Amino acid sequence: MSQLTYSTTELLDTGDVAEPLIANGIVCHGGLDDDGSYISPRTKYRVPAIAAWQTNHLKHFAGSELIDVRINDWPANFPTLEQTRMLLRRGAPESVISSLTRIGTVEGFGSFLRFTEVPDLQSMIVEDMSGTALAHLDKGLIEAHSRDEAGWEEDGVVEAGHRDMWFAARDIAFENPITEDQTQIMLERMGIVAPGGAPGPAAQPSRLLPDDINAHLDLLLQRMIRLLMIEISAFHTFTWAEALLSDDSLVAGNGKAAFIVNCIRADETPHVEYLRTALTELRDRTVIGDSGKHHSGEEIVDTIWQVARTEATGVRREAMIQTLEGEIRFSLEGRSDADDIWEEFRSLGETSS
Ligand SMILES: [Fe+2]
Ligand SMILES: [Fe+2]
Repeated sequence: MSQLTYSTTELLDTGDVAEPLIANGIVCHGGLDDDGSYISPRTKYRVPAIAAWQTNHLKHFAGSELIDVRINDWPANFPTLEQTRMLLRRGAPESVISSLTRIGTVEGFGSFLRFTEVPDLQSMIVEDMSGTALAHLDKGLIEAHSRDEAGWEEDGVVEAGHRDMWFAARDIAFENPITEDQTQIMLERMGIVAPGGAPGPAAQPSRLLPDDINAHLDLLLQRMIRLLMIEISAFHTFTWAEALLSDDSLVAGNGKAAFIVNCIRADETPHVEYLRTALTELRDRTVIGDSGKHHSGEEIVDTIWQVARTEATGVRREAMIQTLEGEIRFSLEGRSDADDIWEEFRSLGETSS
């Protein structure tokens, strides 16, 4: 019988590494083993824990399958590799630099995850939920996720997370292309921060579930499902970034930037796995409403899933494409070949118009 209950300390434990991972002079989380292979942070217990919860769930819920998260169900990265390569070949790297800055900044919003309110789930679920991922959300899983994305500092020791790792990959590939002031202006232009403001996550969403169901549970599930969808579709971004940043004919760094992205990608797998496990556990259980009425976990997860999926592949994707197109057009302003580059860009893949 494998271990099903873990302490927060265990779920945040990286274990031993032979040497730190350094990216563009910055010490990152995780580290390298004796062979130089990357070890993701906080995975000594977290990874076997998630596997044990999955196995245990499938054993106790006959016929159940884990929520499916096939990457091919999600649209490809915008811009495509071909579109991006063309921009770099034609001496227009600025929008690619903006893209990498945008990705890093959004990863940094992960610091807000730790403020996720997890209600007393057992009080609103019929079946026992001990020894599950659900029971460990606020016992290390969300905190580990938050630290992985945004970085962490403890006792004066700073370890960079995904935000700064993306920035390091950008700075290696494009040789420190922007100052902090320029970064702020760029983020304001893309609508990621308000003018003069600091980056922050989107406002709290409105309720999607019936009023009988605890509002905190509704918001928690919305956050988990939206997060899972971001995590899944990000795998297209990794494929795009690794191919681009490993191309010595287009970027600097001799593949070092691509290696950093490869490390980030490895860290994302436990994020996908704990979220899909916890959501599967809830889907197969019964939720008790404020009135005492029982609600099917499957209907609850499905209701939110449909809304979030429509948003992610519809309005949110369209807004992201328009933002990045704005960056491409901005970078071409004043160039005599701007129209020509834009036409070639359109001929190579999807655009908004
Ligand atoms: Fe991340
Ligand atoms: Fe992640």
